[in-house]
Amino acid sequence: MTHVPPTGIASLGLALPSLALPVERLATLRGVDPAKYSIGLGCKTIALCAEGEDVVTLATRAAERALARWGGDRSRIGLIAVGTETAKDMSRPLSAFVAEKLGLSGAIRSYEVKHACYGGTLALRQAVEWRRSGAAGDKAALVIAADVALYALEDGGEPTQGAGAVAFVVDAPLLADVATRSYAFSEPAFDFWRPVGQSFPSVDGPLSLDCYVKAASSCFGQLAADPEAPTTIDAATFACFHVPFPKMVAKAVKGIGESLGWDETKTATFFREKVEPTMVWNREIGNSYTAATWFAVAHALAGRSVGETLLAFSYGSGYGAELLTLRAGELAKAASYTKDLEEDFASRRVVEADEYARLRAHHVGVK
Ligand code: HMG
Repeated sequence: MTHVPPTGIASLGLALPSLALPVERLATLRGVDPAKYSIGLGCKTIALCAEGEDVVTLATRAAERALARWGGDRSRIGLIAVGTETAKDMSRPLSAFVAEKLGLSGAIRSYEVKHACYGGTLALRQAVEWRRSGAAGDKAALVIAADVALYALEDGGEPTQGAGAVAFVVDAPLLADVATRSYAFSEPAFDFWRPVGQSFPSVDGPLSLDCYVKAASSCFGQLAADPEAPTTIDAATFACFHVPFPKMVAKAVKGIGESLGWDETKTATFFREKVEPTMVWNREIGNSYTAATWFAVAHALAGRSVGETLLAFSYGSGYGAELLTLRAGELAKAASYTKDLEEDFASRRVVEADEYARLRAHHVGVK
């Protein structure tokens, strides 16, 4: 009989780059009212790579932290999947760059997953499904969501930039169980895309907002209509979202409330109590693309008691989305992974706008 081991997130590792730019300084550089970025978009700080840092260094550091915390024998890693849209190469997967740094080789399936910001969630789902299919035997998976999000200079998306990585070891569900049942939605569109050879994304800003709201409303509607859902919206302790910028999430919650027939008070209470508290780290990081949903989840999971549930809405331009449900495991209460961000926030250096301009002249982080 096929052995199907208990499966979920066994450990997490988080990593940020070493620089930060407050959005007010970018606003001054661009001659924009700072309130547009801080209040209009809800942004606070952009996490920024220094010279020599890039998506590989971020992904590797997050992975080292997740593996150390897991404490298992690395020969048990049978799959490395990296979700990213900061690819280094059109052929060689980012997982090969990371595996090389980690010294991981052998009987391992290693690959990169691309679907804009949704790629990390797809990689995580594949790893969970691989184990639940029985194909993994007793092997564990290393999954990484890592990105450096940069827009062209003076693009409307510039204040929403960011960078970071979240790594997961998928093994026993010590931190969280990820329910097999989930709610997906996709519709082909050009809302945000980056043609081959182009350094920075092209964006249809207003269309991207509409696509995101439509996807969120559909996924939450599917969950609300499912009599066998792993949790209800009301029962979940927190609802985490992909955070391109915090105001986007507020717009999505408004759309979800309207589509579910909630009154304004219910929508406002849901946002204030179950959504806004999850975005504390996102505000300090900016949009980290594939990692953004998972920084929100990591923040929400910390301190939870066994059995508490979370919702996780992942969105990727193009566009596709999926709503997952997670159940906290025995290590969620202590959440030792929060130390990673405490360290990285404490050691990062806040730069002036002129240093940002100099770094951007070298396309820092995307080479
Ligand atoms: P914009 O066009 O420069 O901004 O860029 P705006 O004029 O629409 O203003 C934004 C908000 O600021 C508005 O509030 C203004 O009223 C307000 P709203 O009406 O929306 O509530 N505002 C002010 N508030 C206070 N004081 C002021 C002031 N001035 C204006 N003085 C846009 C906005 C989102 C289009 C731009 O940032 C952008 O293109 N961003 C990138 C695209 C994006 O993030 N889209 C989100 C959904 S798509 C997604 O999430 C996927 C993604 O992560 C990529 C992936 O999947 O890989 C992006």
